[in-house]
Amino acid sequence: MSAPRKLFVKTYGCQMNVYDSERMAEALAGEGYVATDRPDDADLVLLNTCHIREKAGEKLYSDLGRLRPFKAANPGMKIAVAGCVAQAEGAEIIARAPQVDLVVGPQAYHRLPQMAARAQAGERVVDTDFPPEDKFDALPRPTLRRAPAAFLTVQEGCDKFCAFCVVPYTRGSELSRPADRILAEARALVDQGVAELTLLGQNVNAWHGAAGGLAALISALSEIAGLQRIRYTTSHPNDMDAALIAAHGDNPKLMPYLHLPVQSGSDRILRAMNRKHTVADYLALVSRMRAVRPDILLSSDFIVGFPGETAADFDATMALIDTVGYGMAYSFKYSPRPGTPAAHRPTLATAVVDQRLAQMQALITRQQRAAQDAMVGRVVRVLVEKPGRKPGQMGGKSDYLHAVHFQGTPAMTGSVVPVRITESSTNSLAGVIVG
Ligand code: 5AD
Ligand code: SF4
Repeated sequence: MSAPRKLFVKTYGCQMNVYDSERMAEALAGEGYVATDRPDDADLVLLNTCHIREKAGEKLYSDLGRLRPFKAANPGMKIAVAGCVAQAEGAEIIARAPQVDLVVGPQAYHRLPQMAARAQAGERVVDTDFPPEDKFDALPRPTLRRAPAAFLTVQEGCDKFCAFCVVPYTRGSELSRPADRILAEARALVDQGVAELTLLGQNVNAWHGAAGGLAALISALSEIAGLQRIRYTTSHPNDMDAALIAAHGDNPKLMPYLHLPVQSGSDRILRAMNRKHTVADYLALVSRMRAVRPDILLSSDFIVGFPGETAADFDATMALIDTVGYGMAYSFKYSPRPGTPAAHRPTLATAVVDQRLAQMQALITRQQRAAQDAMVGRVVRVLVEKPGRKPGQMGGKSDYLHAVHFQGTPAMTGSVVPVRITESSTNSLAGVIVG
């Protein structure tokens, strides 16, 4: 038998890319590729890219530069670029980076094994089509050994067209995977030891693969006996329907954490962003969530320095953050993206944006810390995932998605244990297992 080919994968960006990278690795495993963590001796280097902000795209080109000497020393090495930069800039990558052998867009991953074979034979291959078939149907079912918490993509693409965002162009329009396929994949994952599933989608709560929408899917998934926890991300406020909100009060497997990006706290800016909801709509939704699940932790994304953002608009966003009180939040400097409606609008002075971002991040950090500190003294349920940094320590996530460390043994991996929180530090909690 010939020696296995070695595959090095680097994933940039969101959790959907993490899931896609796993599925691509599985598809290539069928062709005899085994994973390596050393890019220098790989036969195939796969870069699964992100295009959401300019910085994310730039990383690809700096990494391609770093790969050049490896490829010079190992001429058999092939380099593949996947993901959203591949979709958006396929031809440009081929022209600009002669070391790239293969460019594959997010909807064509099921064709990767054939493409890799062509690349190994010396061709340069590009596939960024949006084929009519569902790539996940053609990709093999998950087979690799799983950690207790796994991602499962149920929905892809976006029809919302926020004025700043490339996703509707790189990932295409909203597509829901059928319920039976998702349930079969979930069962297979649970059989491999998965206790927690995070359902993924660019607009996951717009899933409409069966009647009843995401709430019905979550209800069906929660029937799987070995599945202990369900999460989903990312949600658009306008797609939070009554059944999904109610599920947070009724379904004990649905975790009390919701990522619900609002982007801005100014109605004027929300309009300019084409968000199709107001600040009042969002706050009303937050109230409804807290009415059914008072302890839910909310998180959000914010864009700072969107074109036209005045000091008053920014203050309104800070006020919204103050009002909601987030458990976690992400803030980004606005980055003009080619092809989006906002791309050519005049941008704000960098110094102004930097100052606003620092101010927002300070507020968010205080809120995150307060949410964490509030856990001290409480008993929380933790899914044990892996050994901690110190000997004898294990780590996992609480229902509220806080990282928690405690004294434990690897045999506990995959179980949910009650932990009394004794300490809150910058990015994690520490505690002791209670009887
Ligand atoms: N500039 C800055 N942030 C952006 N996001 C999306 N597009 C841009 C952009 N052009 C942020 C949004 C989104 C998150 C995933 O990335 O806040 O919710
Ligand atoms: Fe982008 Fe808006 Fe769609 Fe989210 S809802 S993926 S921010 S266009």
